[in-house]
Amino acid sequence: MCLFLTAVITSLALAEGEPPSVYIVCVSCHGEEGEGSPVIPVPPIAGQHAGYLRGQLLAFRSGDRGDHLADTWGRQMALMTKPLTDTDIDRLALFLAEQPRWVRAEQPQLLEDNDKRACMTCHDPANTSAESTTPIIAGMPEAYLYRQLVHYRDGIRSASIDGAPNPMSALITTDMTDLMLQELARFFSGL
Ligand code: HEC
Ligand code: HEC
Repeated sequence: MCLFLTAVITSLALAEGEPPSVYIVCVSCHGEEGEGSPVIPVPPIAGQHAGYLRGQLLAFRSGDRGDHLADTWGRQMALMTKPLTDTDIDRLALFLAEQPRWVRAEQPQLLEDNDKRACMTCHDPANTSAESTTPIIAGMPEAYLYRQLVHYRDGIRSASIDGAPNPMSALITTDMTDLMLQELARFFSGL
């Protein structure tokens, strides 16, 4: 723990300007450089407009954001803002806005591109006819694709086509982690 904190403090000291002392709390979720995390859905906050940051922190603190029962992640974030004073919020917003803007977060590559292209044996729009029961998935919103894949995996969505078992139920196995499905969704939404 001590070693971890030392490492964080050393690297923070390298950034332009002194981080407000409360920033140490933010690092555990938003990353040392405010870059966010693809693993837990935490947004990048470095290099964001100070006005937006200040507004959101105030909204989390007052309960205007992150108060809804269904907002699991927002509620976690809201908790973090309860002890913050107005001065803390101003300093955090100004400090974060001065930091270099985030670069696209490193995405862990869990699947080979060939594995993804294998899906195209069925989903290639060029090969499917108007009567096909295989949908076109290229370019669909990532969040939609992700949700469908999770639903196939978890047995929430299944349909049999002409009495035959749904191929997706067999393809998307319970062994596929959320991260793998996220990667598939990102890949197909980007095509
Ligand atoms: C326990 C993990 C956690 C900690 C610690 C944490 N955050 Fe967050 N933060 C989140 C999550 C999760 C979200 C996304 C909430 C949502 O989905 O609406 C978020 C969202 C935000 C947003 C909104 C960004 C946007 O683009 O709308 C800001 C600003 C923010 N955090 C700043 C901070 C600051 C400053 C700290 C330190 C005081 C901090 N956070 C500490 C998890 C955390
Ligand atoms: C053997 C052929 C076949 C292969 C290979 C295949 N799919 Fe499918 N896919 C289908 C069929 C058929 C459906 C429609 C199933 C249904 O009715 O629910 C479907 C549905 C989907 C949907 C839902 C689309 C929507 O509009 O709701 C997604 C997402 C999807 N597949 C992704 C993938 C991914 C990712 C792969 C590779 C891991 C893959 N598929 C491989 C045949 C296939």
